Amino acid sequence: MTIQEKIQKLKKEKNAIILAHNYQLPEVQDIADFVGDSLELARISAQVKEEVIIFCGVHFMAETASILAPDKKVILPDLFAGCPLANTITPREVKELKEKYPNYAVVAYVNTSAEVKAESDYICTSANATFIVEKIPEEKVIFIPDRNLGYYVSKHTKKEIIIWNGFCPTHQRILPQDIIALKEKYKDAKVVVHPECRKEVLDLADKIASTSGIIKFVKEDNGKRYIIGTEVGLLHRLRKENPEKEFYLASPLAICPNMKKITLDKILTSLENLEPEVKVEESTREKAIKPIERMLSL
Ligand code: 13P
Repeated sequence: MTIQEKIQKLKKEKNAIILAHNYQLPEVQDIADFVGDSLELARISAQVKEEVIIFCGVHFMAETASILAPDKKVILPDLFAGCPLANTITPREVKELKEKYPNYAVVAYVNTSAEVKAESDYICTSANATFIVEKIPEEKVIFIPDRNLGYYVSKHTKKEIIIWNGFCPTHQRILPQDIIALKEKYKDAKVVVHPECRKEVLDLADKIASTSGIIKFVKEDNGKRYIIGTEVGLLHRLRKENPEKEFYLASPLAICPNMKKITLDKILTSLENLEPEVKVEESTREKAIKPIERMLSL
């Protein structure tokens, strides 16, 4: 039996579903029941029928699934698959911000720990950040923790925004000169980037979108070539779903070491042992679910 067959067999026996983020290794994406962006994975987690969720992504994503599906066992095949962006802000720092700016609503990007979510008023993802900020009744917003997504949102709203200074190291490695050099080589290529890219890169983009937003844009667009400013994992789906189009990764350094920690071997072991589990403690979950539900209801 191949490892893929073993995983499929065990998945049925253990009544499990495999969810994978768009940045996962190609072979992990191919074995998953669903591949998507943070918002899609959160929505699916809330509706899963199986008893076990094998979450192929990073820690905060598995936590979000645990918050939304507390009666399910959420397994992250490698507990060390973290998110350095999520680690740029602590719950204590959020409390301090709220004390300093009492009339502001805290809008937290989903790339945050459960404890930070518990201190926030609304959650957003890269797919809906501007929409959420525009839709909420408050006119003053503290946006945490991604400064680039915050910059992108601030360009699309008249609301007053205080932005935390966090960033994703993988997206930060994509430089404007990378885009300019590729643009010189492939003059007709469209520049499509994730909003976690630095603002000098965002300013060069034809389209800024979440990972699944990039996939949707490319599918519907009538172009042939695309310079992709996000993590390398996304190119797997882009190439698979658009074999007639050409994709160029904006930088060879756009590789997230944490997303690459999940392998087929680890998925198999985690199915065998049903661990390591990610379980958000109930008192934190009760608080953290409120801003997530506010997002999902908007
Ligand atoms: P998406 O929600 O666009 O998939 O982004 C998640 C993420 O962590 C980007 O680095």
